[in-house]
Amino acid sequence: MKIGKVGVLGTGQMGAGICQVAAAAGHEVLMADISLEVAQKSKDGIAKRLAKTVEKGKMTQADMDKIVSNLKPVSAIAELRDVDIAIEAATEQVGLKIELFKKLDEACKKEAILASNTSSISITLMAAATKRPSKVVGMHFMNPVPVMQLVEMIRGLQTDDQTFDDTVALAKAWGKTTTIAKDYPGFIVNRLLIPYLNEACSALMEGIGTVEDIDTSIKLGLNNPMGPFALADLIGLDTVLAISRVLHDGFNDPKYRPSALLVKYVEAGWLGRKTGRGFYTY
Ligand SMILES: NC(=O)c1ccc[n+]([C@@H]2O[C@H](COP(=O)([O-])OP(=O)(O)OC[C@H]3O[C@@H](n4cnc5c(N)ncnc54)[C@H](O)[C@@H]3O)[C@@H](O)[C@H]2O)c1
Repeated sequence: MKIGKVGVLGTGQMGAGICQVAAAAGHEVLMADISLEVAQKSKDGIAKRLAKTVEKGKMTQADMDKIVSNLKPVSAIAELRDVDIAIEAATEQVGLKIELFKKLDEACKKEAILASNTSSISITLMAAATKRPSKVVGMHFMNPVPVMQLVEMIRGLQTDDQTFDDTVALAKAWGKTTTIAKDYPGFIVNRLLIPYLNEACSALMEGIGTVEDIDTSIKLGLNNPMGPFALADLIGLDTVLAISRVLHDGFNDPKYRPSALLVKYVEAGWLGRKTGRGFYTY
């Protein structure tokens, strides 16, 4: 199926990145969130970031204008009725995602593909909430979407070949490299990443090192671009905790138990870059 119009539901940091990449690839992109104002603010944020890229001479004004003109904030999910694919990128909560998939299923034309950018939640479960389970698929983009190369592709038990092939082709057309993961909690990337971030929180709680010493040890000792705390702050500590809980519940294995320190930071509302404070202050 030729995919033209794209809908993105949830226009936070990941949704905004997906909108930008889709718009840059020439798609008209409908942006939906909890209100028109939130979606509009996300579009304004994209325009502001692109303007900086233009200032630095890394993009022409004409290219920026083309991307921005492809972005159409809308006021409700119902307005996604004629998109060819809707990509859900809302908060990482199982109950919320199931509700949103029911609503997308009601709103979107019956041929449309429904994709989720979830980091960890069962695609099979979201698919089962719709009347088109064979057209539901996982497209797990990495943060920041315009920069990161990978899209992890996940088929639910019900996903048909056509849907899977069409979405892999779409990710590739957007300049991404795809890998395929089975539909188990955390897929590939977060199955490995989240226990590591969680262990860093436990190490910090035990006083093995400071935030700075742990991050510097990993950066310089393992030649990683970021230490675990800088990365957790970028992802959002609420999201790290939510994924941790999906792994813990999904495998029913105590090795995935979320660190008490991580829980405490989320209770405090210290969610990382997006709230101005996490392990670092921004
Ligand atoms: N942060 C990362 O590094 C990262 C990486 C890959 C995937 N993801 C996944 O992407 C998704 C979004 O994460 P994020 O980091 O962009 O979070 P975020 O907090 O930046 O954005 C979440 C967005 O969802 C919206 N939302 C919440 N409830 C909604 C509803 N009922 N209807 C419509 N919109 C609603 C919020 O208003 C917000 O704009 C999650 O599933 C997350 O696991 C995150």
